[in-house]
Amino acid sequence: MTELKMQVNLGGLLMKNPVATASGTYGFGLEYKDYIDISQLGAIVGKGTTLLPKAGNAPPRMAETPAGMLNSVGLENPGLEAVIRDVLPKLRPYDVPLVMNISGNTAEEYGEMAARLTGVAGVAALEVNISCPNVKMGGLAFGTDPRAAALVTETVRKNTSLPVIVKLSPNVGDIAGIAKSVEAAGATAISLINTILGMAIDIRAQKPLLANIMGGLSGPAVKPVALRMVWQVAQAVKIPLMGIGGISIWQDAVEFLLAGASAVQVGTANFVDPQTPLSVLRGIEDYLRENGYSDIKQIIGLARSAT
Ligand code: FUM
Repeated sequence: MTELKMQVNLGGLLMKNPVATASGTYGFGLEYKDYIDISQLGAIVGKGTTLLPKAGNAPPRMAETPAGMLNSVGLENPGLEAVIRDVLPKLRPYDVPLVMNISGNTAEEYGEMAARLTGVAGVAALEVNISCPNVKMGGLAFGTDPRAAALVTETVRKNTSLPVIVKLSPNVGDIAGIAKSVEAAGATAISLINTILGMAIDIRAQKPLLANIMGGLSGPAVKPVALRMVWQVAQAVKIPLMGIGGISIWQDAVEFLLAGASAVQVGTANFVDPQTPLSVLRGIEDYLRENGYSDIKQIIGLARSAT
């Protein structure tokens, strides 16, 4: 069988293959270690972490939708120091890079977290979350304004030598404009998309289903939107992209790679089948072999050169 080259370099994050797990769907990987061999993953992106512990929003904060789900978790997490102390050492035995997803209330907080994480064993890169729709401060407020997005990116960049992957929100009119401003501010890669703001109403109770009223939509329903945004951003920037949004089968991942993403993240599908990232990976490998490719890089952005 032909030896395939599956390695990708995502703006300094070296991945043995292009399939990672998305933030908020995989804990820090340890939650899944009894179900899959997490060392086979290209990377694990950890649950959104804040400087201080956060209880998250009131329940109900999850709702199923046709071909997807809404969440309004609100970045529940034990805080940066607890993650560094209690979680990261347990990941050390596994041969998989961890990307820390960080959120702050201010640009300075992002900078403080970036500085603290730099040099911590096992942390391979930062995913700068400027796109969480479920918190009042920070999150989306940074991701929908090109200047605020640039300020956060620049502050993180100044405080770390780690690769800086900025996670974009789809809840904007001009995704390419935001992408260009974070690239100019020093992002080494971009991941997109985070969830799309949505809601659901309980018709019996005649009130919103989520206590927070609105939440983020994810799952197969968002894939065409995510793919379109990856396509647009791939034409606007030179830094590598990680495609996220409804990837549930290998064919979805191949679409993102052909659109110009160098890697992908599997998210909501993990709740249906924890094996999904590895079946997506195997499917990409078969696709490469069946079509006569020896290196994953040969298909990145291929659909763009066909237009
Ligand atoms: O609410 C949440 O914890 C989700 C975070 C995100 O979408 O970034």
